[in-house]
Amino acid sequence: MLLENKKILIMGIRNKWSIAFGIAKSAYENGAQLIFTYMGEENKSKIEELTKDFKGSKTYVLDGASEDDMVKEVFEKIKEENGKVDGIVHAIAHANTEDLHNDFIFTSKEGFSHANDVSAYSFVLTCRMAKELEMLNENASLVTLTYHGSTKVLEGYNVMGVAKAALESSVRYLAQNLGKDGIRVNALSSGPIKTLSAKGIKDFGTIMTVVEEKSPLHRNVTPEQIGDVATFLLSKMSDSITGQTIYADSGYSIMGV
Ligand SMILES: NC(=O)c1ccc[n+]([C@@H]2O[C@H](COP(=O)([O-])OP(=O)(O)OC[C@H]3O[C@@H](n4cnc5c(N)ncnc54)[C@H](O)[C@@H]3O)[C@@H](O)[C@H]2O)c1
Repeated sequence: MLLENKKILIMGIRNKWSIAFGIAKSAYENGAQLIFTYMGEENKSKIEELTKDFKGSKTYVLDGASEDDMVKEVFEKIKEENGKVDGIVHAIAHANTEDLHNDFIFTSKEGFSHANDVSAYSFVLTCRMAKELEMLNENASLVTLTYHGSTKVLEGYNVMGVAKAALESSVRYLAQNLGKDGIRVNALSSGPIKTLSAKGIKDFGTIMTVVEEKSPLHRNVTPEQIGDVATFLLSKMSDSITGQTIYADSGYSIMGV
């Protein structure tokens, strides 16, 4: 099993459709012990029910993934109760609804900052805090989730595309910084999946239909498939890979038209 004896922190589980849940399933099947963060104390019982089959897992509330103090407090608690971790999955993003519905040119300063704070800076903060608090075991692997809208225009993805571009660039700089400690940092670029976050994107159904029509494999990806790629990136099997954006999208991104 690829993640035997490894402790993996998964940030951003919300419900059974979450990519974080697909990743949890694969990591658990591959032997990992799981720790989760989720948003909203009011969701505690729902998240405990959702994760109860992952034996020995723990859950922690994190409401502000881009707030230095909040992340510090939660990470300190996680380290105190679980010791060091071998990997972190960051599956957190958010943009204001109006910034996904209007044309990109109308993005407000506040909306621009918000999307970049929550979706890109939060990963820089995650990496920095994990290092500063000495939470990471030797050879730890850090993975964030990104999307093709970082390099190509998809109507309705808007400021989230800009935030994902910042995230992917951050991954390269973080990989360089943390490489000295033997820690790897990668982005996993998932094809479109119907999740609660995806519902906020205008014409998301059309994007999925086009992937089915045009991608080399003529099918959409599943959270389980993304989970398997994340497991690979978290495992020793990917020991030589860092600073990369790895596409798991049925090949859609290689197509010209
Ligand atoms: N669904 C897709 O098609 C798709 C494709 C590529 C990449 N992604 C990325 O995958 C990741 C997970 O998204 P998902 O599609 O599984 O949706 P999701 O709604 O299940 O997960 C998003 C998570 O982000 C959390 N979150 C939002 N703002 C937060 C904040 N300020 N502090 C802490 N947590 C916060 C939410 O609580 C939720 O758990 C995101 O980065 C998303 O951009 C999704």
